Amino acid sequence: MATVRLDQKSRALTRSVPDSYHSALANYFGSGPTDIELARAQHSAYCEAMKASGIEVTVLSADENHPDCIFVEDQAVIIDGHVLLPVPGHPSRVNEQPPIADYLIEKMGGAQICRMSGDARMDGGDILRLGDLFFVGRSSRTNDEGIKELEDLLHHLNYELRIIDIPEGALHLTSIASTPTDNVIIAPEGMLSKDAFGELPEGSEVYWMPIEETYGCNTIGLPGNKVLVAEGYPTVLEKMQELGLESVVLDVSQFRAGDGSLTCCSLFY
Ligand code: GLY
Repeated sequence: MATVRLDQKSRALTRSVPDSYHSALANYFGSGPTDIELARAQHSAYCEAMKASGIEVTVLSADENHPDCIFVEDQAVIIDGHVLLPVPGHPSRVNEQPPIADYLIEKMGGAQICRMSGDARMDGGDILRLGDLFFVGRSSRTNDEGIKELEDLLHHLNYELRIIDIPEGALHLTSIASTPTDNVIIAPEGMLSKDAFGELPEGSEVYWMPIEETYGCNTIGLPGNKVLVAEGYPTVLEKMQELGLESVVLDVSQFRAGDGSLTCCSLFY
């Protein structure tokens, strides 16, 4: 999940892979998961990698009626202890939310919970945080009404929100960009204009990766100078090394097959 700072990453919520995962939506990176047992092994390695970095990981049970349920990032937007429950942008994913919402409400006692309604639509995967600056993708899943609701919350918290139009070939903002640290964005050249993120705070920088490594641009920065990266993206890996981060490389081919990336499979709360 891309809406918390590094120092806020201590607990992560994930969800098991259902038998029905082979029917996950797949129109961008993937053409559909092919191996559920491998997906489960990769998911388990993902959870173990987070645990090895000191994160307390909870795994909710799979929901067979919702093949995409492992992609929990889309179901809640957690910012500084506030929870925005969006109306997910794809109708087949709307009813994945209740168990996640119930869990967060129980575990985040006292959190302010807001629910989107009406025509507002948003997938959590469209939000990216760089320190105190937020970006939202206007995408096939996130519309202007949804963005307005996020903006209201962020203004209440005194944070700035910048809108980025997501190109047709991409699902979410986090499908094409991530913040491995609180002052670094990585994104693929050619997917977004060079000024898409606008002027960044002093000390922050965007590093542009080759377009062939678009999928690798989704990373998860973890406390202790660590970063989870997908296997097979050498320029991204080299950049993480250059930045002084210790990379934990994970084979997530079956996440990719279902159009999911590393951040999609967790919510930090
Ligand atoms: N398969 C992930 C999604 O389309 O939301």
